[in-house]
Amino acid sequence: MARVGIYGASGYTGFELIKILTRHPGVEIAFATARSAAGQRLSDIFPTLIDQQLVSADEANLAGVDLIFTCLPHGAAELLPIVQQALERGVKVVDFSDTFRLRDPDDYQRRRGKPHPAPELLSTAVYGLPELHRDAIRRARLVANTGCYPLTAILPLWPLERAGLIADRTVIVDSKSGVSGAGRSLSLKTHFGETHETFSAYTIGRSHRHLGEMEQETGLHIIFSPHLLPVFRGILSTIYVTLRPGVSLEEARAAYGVYAGEPFVRLLPPGRLPELRLVQNSMHLAIGLQPVEPEHGRYIIVAALDNLLKGASGQAVQNMNLMLGFEETTALQ
Ligand SMILES: NC(=O)c1ccc[n+]([C@@H]2O[C@H](COP(=O)([O-])OP(=O)(O)OC[C@H]3O[C@@H](n4cnc5c(N)ncnc54)[C@H](OP(=O)(O)O)[C@@H]3O)[C@@H](O)[C@H]2O)c1
Repeated sequence: MARVGIYGASGYTGFELIKILTRHPGVEIAFATARSAAGQRLSDIFPTLIDQQLVSADEANLAGVDLIFTCLPHGAAELLPIVQQALERGVKVVDFSDTFRLRDPDDYQRRRGKPHPAPELLSTAVYGLPELHRDAIRRARLVANTGCYPLTAILPLWPLERAGLIADRTVIVDSKSGVSGAGRSLSLKTHFGETHETFSAYTIGRSHRHLGEMEQETGLHIIFSPHLLPVFRGILSTIYVTLRPGVSLEEARAAYGVYAGEPFVRLLPPGRLPELRLVQNSMHLAIGLQPVEPEHGRYIIVAALDNLLKGASGQAVQNMNLMLGFEETTALQ
């Protein structure tokens, strides 16, 4: 049995991760940490989960552990020492935050306005998207699990870009996310009264922190407008893309043949568009491709996934399976 540790087990992604890991035949949970919930049992918080003691990060014992998942909030001061200590001790890491997702330290500095705190780790980190980087993930010691929004842009756009079909390098990505995307910690923004029966845009245009990974992986210039949807889980993105004039629907759809063997990516039949219900509680990213004015190359793509599964914890287990030599879909189907 492989032994794994989970930092930040009492959050939303931790909950989904533990649900998956407890049905994984090759893995046992060595420890699970929390901050304010340290000292409680996991089953006190999530009564349907295993009865595991939650310890503080300081109490986590890495002895005999093969891999850790770090499900800590963006910017948690504890993250970097935890990752460094694990790597020094030969323990592999799947990190959920956006700390290691940009390969180029200069790109990080440009986008964040400050230097990366551990640039030497960026060159060893692999962007945790199996559909694009499967072999590198198998060899990786540090995997930067992808952002949930970025997946809904990268996976639909990459086949078209790879096939040389995109004419206009600027692409508009308009996304809507359920509130679980912001995590379980209390905040006014995700308070019931602030989200119920309303709908709002935020950090629109060029300012969202996950724009960088979308541009890194697609090579495109992206205008990105995220919205907060009054549902719990799921992201649906509408993408406005201009292909070469006259590219037919058949030609554009053929580009997605690159996903033919992929277990978790589905191009829907012509005329069908994804909706959240199709992907909630599932590992699948669904893509619908709609010609608008194909004579001018204008297409709309709609993509949807479950932010907590393919967008976070499911993807993390897919990466872990590759890193530890398990069948890639173990515990995920
Ligand atoms: N939610 C999503 O859909 C999603 C998707 C993709 C990626 N992610 C990323 O995954 C990570 C976790 O997200 P989440 O939604 O699971 O967050 P969350 O629900 O807020 O959970 C955060 C977890 O980290 C612990 N924690 C909080 N502050 C800490 C600190 N300073 N030091 C150590 N532990 C701390 C919390 O413990 P207590 O409960 O005891 O306070 C909790 O266990 C984030 O980096 C997020 O951006 C999330």
